[in-house]
Amino acid sequence: MQPIRLYINIDHVATLREARQADEPDPIAAAIHCESAGADGITVHLREDRRHIQDADLPALAKVIGTVLNVELALASDVLERVINVRPYQATLVPERREEITTEGGLDIRQTDPRLPTTLASLQEAGIRTSLFLDPDPEQLHAAAQLGVAAVELHTGAYANSWTHNSAALETLDAAATLSRKLGLAVHAGHGLTYANVEAVARIAAIEELNIGHSVMARAMMVGMETAVREMVALVKGARSV
Ligand code: PXP
Repeated sequence: MQPIRLYINIDHVATLREARQADEPDPIAAAIHCESAGADGITVHLREDRRHIQDADLPALAKVIGTVLNVELALASDVLERVINVRPYQATLVPERREEITTEGGLDIRQTDPRLPTTLASLQEAGIRTSLFLDPDPEQLHAAAQLGVAAVELHTGAYANSWTHNSAALETLDAAATLSRKLGLAVHAGHGLTYANVEAVARIAAIEELNIGHSVMARAMMVGMETAVREMVALVKGARSV
């Protein structure tokens, strides 16, 4: 089975910092701890409302990270310029609404927003690998394949909300991952994954990257960042090795 990568989303380190408009906790230090504990990459979302990660965090992260940086962004021009300036390894396009608590659904790319192909072209011209955050819906995946992106990130929220009583969402994810591979897309997944529910997703062979944030940050408050990340690395890689 192909190996699986775990990228840790450290947005909520910055959420806590911004709650006090202070200089701690420091997301840059958090990223270093995540890497020391075995994370394969660091993910941050530069939101239009800058509620957590700030502009200055991006170049600072790009400078210290020894693995890879994945930046999530919406189709908003000032953010795009900032992402292109730091040239992360990967950019993941996500939908964004100011009133949402977190990213609530995948992008809807069936009717192409004219900003989507131009944003993708700008990122690709800068040498940045592109991924689209999508619901595990065949129509969306076929549309993604037409857009020439390297990868799709499957939204695991429906699975995370129903896994205790229903396996349908896991089957939907599995089918979407297999279809994406057939369409020539690399398959990532994330949102709402926790220590309790991650293994079934990690066992889906077509998935090569997971992005996990909230659950790991919550656990880090109790046991420390490196222990929390190590525990998640063990679950994700352990599930893949059986
Ligand atoms: N993937 C994407 C595209 C996201 O927007 C988020 C949330 O920031 C995540 C993964 C991680 O979700 P969670 O914080 O629930 O692990």
